[in-house]
Amino acid sequence: MTEASGQPSGEWVAIVLCAGRGARMRSQLPKVLHTVAGRPMVHLVLDSLEAAGFANAVVVTAAADDAVAESVRERAAVAVQGEPLGTGHAVLAARDAAGGASRVLVLYGDLPLLTPRTLTELSSRHDDSGAVLTFLSAYLDDPTGYGRILRENGQVGGIVEESETDERTSRIHEVNAGLYATEARWLWPTLEGIKPGPRGEIYLTDIIGAAVASTERLQAYQITESSEVQQVNTRTELALAERAMRERIRARLMADGVTLTDPDTTYVDALVRVGPDTTLLPGVHLLGDTEVGAGCRIGPNAILRDTVTGDGCTVGGSTIEGARLADRVSVGPYCHVRPGTELQHDVHLGNYAEIKASRVGARTRIGHFSYVGDADVGADVNIGAGTVTANYDGNSKHRTRIGDGAFIGSDSMLIAPVTIGAGARTAAGSIVTKDVPPNASAVGAPARIRRDRPPREEA
Ligand code: UD1
Ligand code: CA
Repeated sequence: MTEASGQPSGEWVAIVLCAGRGARMRSQLPKVLHTVAGRPMVHLVLDSLEAAGFANAVVVTAAADDAVAESVRERAAVAVQGEPLGTGHAVLAARDAAGGASRVLVLYGDLPLLTPRTLTELSSRHDDSGAVLTFLSAYLDDPTGYGRILRENGQVGGIVEESETDERTSRIHEVNAGLYATEARWLWPTLEGIKPGPRGEIYLTDIIGAAVASTERLQAYQITESSEVQQVNTRTELALAERAMRERIRARLMADGVTLTDPDTTYVDALVRVGPDTTLLPGVHLLGDTEVGAGCRIGPNAILRDTVTGDGCTVGGSTIEGARLADRVSVGPYCHVRPGTELQHDVHLGNYAEIKASRVGARTRIGHFSYVGDADVGADVNIGAGTVTANYDGNSKHRTRIGDGAFIGSDSMLIAPVTIGAGARTAAGSIVTKDVPPNASAVGAPARIRRDRPPREEA
């Protein structure tokens, strides 16, 4: 891709700063691993970089083996800042990893809402400008917590960190967002020339003052969509970022043809995909790596996590985790579908069914309270109310197999390991401890097997 198309060229490297203490979060978890719309902030930043075409990214972490480094290693290079001596010091720690790139995009890992479009816009404005530094600013109604931009006759004159503001400067509403496009030939020597503050810290923001003091050109690009620069230093800001991100996701879904009858109570994680003409009713949570097909009706009050559905599915207020549903499956209300479950097309789960690690064949019906775990259930099976697969003997789990077209009578206990043959039947209240051959029936407790299965009408 060429620079003309708005994609950054291979001369660019992106450096994401994630090595700070994040003390204001008061957390054991590193700040950038806190999630926004279900995704760790650092990964949201890397997603945006990737979508904007930045192929080289370096993440600066506090240690080579810390949780942040482990989390990003597959998608970015890692550079280690041994001690958190400031944002400028963190950028210097990435110098070797940045290699010979001629342009450097620096951004903070606590800016989860920056869009690919803004990254592209800033870097292409920089490309054309001849400036050594182009940084992102924003006008915020409440600028608290951000460095303020000083202007003289409209030109950037410097920056004042929040901790150094006085009565006049604290009232400045134009702030430093934390995204910088720079020329490598200028950045590295400039950073090395910056004097550490009283606590030994090197502020990246001092490069703005350095550019002002030199004869080099610098420019600020003021973003209009100021919600994009929401930083996360505190749990309160985390909640603000969460709200803004969820709103953005809901707007995207609606633009893509999904109906949300009550957007405010519909929670959709960052990576979730939903097909057109699907309706999400109030109280729906679509979480993690979930994909919902087209023309589905989900909710009210349904939770789907790491679940894939086909088209035309109906899910009433139920919880579905780690499952795959084919087309036209209906579930619930009041079902719990647990990891490792596959429901083939036109399966119907009624109320109070719990299904775990089971494959359920096409058109099979489990209409009323039942537990089906570690089971392979064929197509066109009817599972009566109160059926339980007793899969656990106190030591280990065993499988239950039910062939196509079998009829499991109400209140059947299937003591695994056990196989119910195709077309077989179990009578109401039977306790099945032995395999039932195809087309035979099992009756009683413990069940006796009858080979001469009566026709279904007479059962
Ligand atoms: C910074 C900016 C401020 C800006 C604000 C908004 C500086 C000095 N100030 O302040 O002008 O308005 O962000 O985005 O840059 N980090 C390291 N190593 C360190 C310190 C920080 O990697 O030694 C990382 C942090 O993990 C974080 C990012 O750099 O992801 C920014 O640090 P943070 O402490 O949040 O800076 P702010 O005080 O918010
Ligand atoms: Ca910050």
